[in-house]
Amino acid sequence: MSPESSEAAPIGVFDSGVGGLSVLRALQAELPHEHFVYLADNGHAPYGERGDAFVAARTHAIAGHLRRAHGIKALVVACNTATAAAIHEARASHPGLPVVGVEPALKPAVAATRTGRVGVIATRGTLASGKFGRLLDSLRSQAEFIVQPCDGLAHAIEQAVAEGLAGATAAAEIEALCTMYMRAMGRFGTETGAIDTLVLGCTHYVFAESVLQRLAGHGVRLVETGEPVARQTRRLLAQAGLLASAPGGGALQLLTTGDPGLPRAAAARWLRGPARQSERVDVPAVPPALPARRPG
Ligand code: DGL
Repeated sequence: MSPESSEAAPIGVFDSGVGGLSVLRALQAELPHEHFVYLADNGHAPYGERGDAFVAARTHAIAGHLRRAHGIKALVVACNTATAAAIHEARASHPGLPVVGVEPALKPAVAATRTGRVGVIATRGTLASGKFGRLLDSLRSQAEFIVQPCDGLAHAIEQAVAEGLAGATAAAEIEALCTMYMRAMGRFGTETGAIDTLVLGCTHYVFAESVLQRLAGHGVRLVETGEPVARQTRRLLAQAGLLASAPGGGALQLLTTGDPGLPRAAAARWLRGPARQSERVDVPAVPPALPARRPG
């Protein structure tokens, strides 16, 4: 199938695992006539503690695979860590393909905070990135940011899906990690001096929202990025003349580089619609293309 050639082609969405389903859910709501192919890179997750070179290589391989094998018309990198490490390279390698990334929603948090103290939780990779550093620097004068890497939390969320609803081990691990990291950030609440807005800077964390909200307390606002990303995807598709115009789309294909049971269970739990199968695919890492050598 020729990539980005037709409005009927699917939109590719990927994450290190099931976290990007929180973005896919918003995409499906915003773009109900579109077809989606979701690739969970479970075989290589988590990304957050792996380093930029590894994450960039995975992003490169997955973008190429989705384009070659599925003829995607747009790519949504539904992973903050991969966006931080590789969105520029993905755009440069695929000129003409609309590529949308996600980043921690610091600007909406600044608009929402009343106490002026904003908490940000994300992976170590995202928080260490130059991209995040620049975003933070551009907003430092408008709020105080308390930034906390959450090693292990994305992995625990994947484990909770693998264990199923009855599983208690991963749920206890999620509770323990959230408690530890939120304590380290200081006081949450709506009174002066407290963190009243918490940015979920990793797409997995949306699936720990109820635990985070309970620990933070009622008045604290949790901010995530699914809806703005879905609106940006719509804008880019419209600009490129690639929005699906005919009703009747809405197909979803689930792919994984790991255990097919995982995205299937996560989709059943978190997405609307009928139960879906998921298919295992191999997406070996390929070195990014080197610039052509000039003779002489
Ligand atoms: N869901 C990803 C993110 O938004 C990465 C989680 C991980 O694999 O560590 O950053």
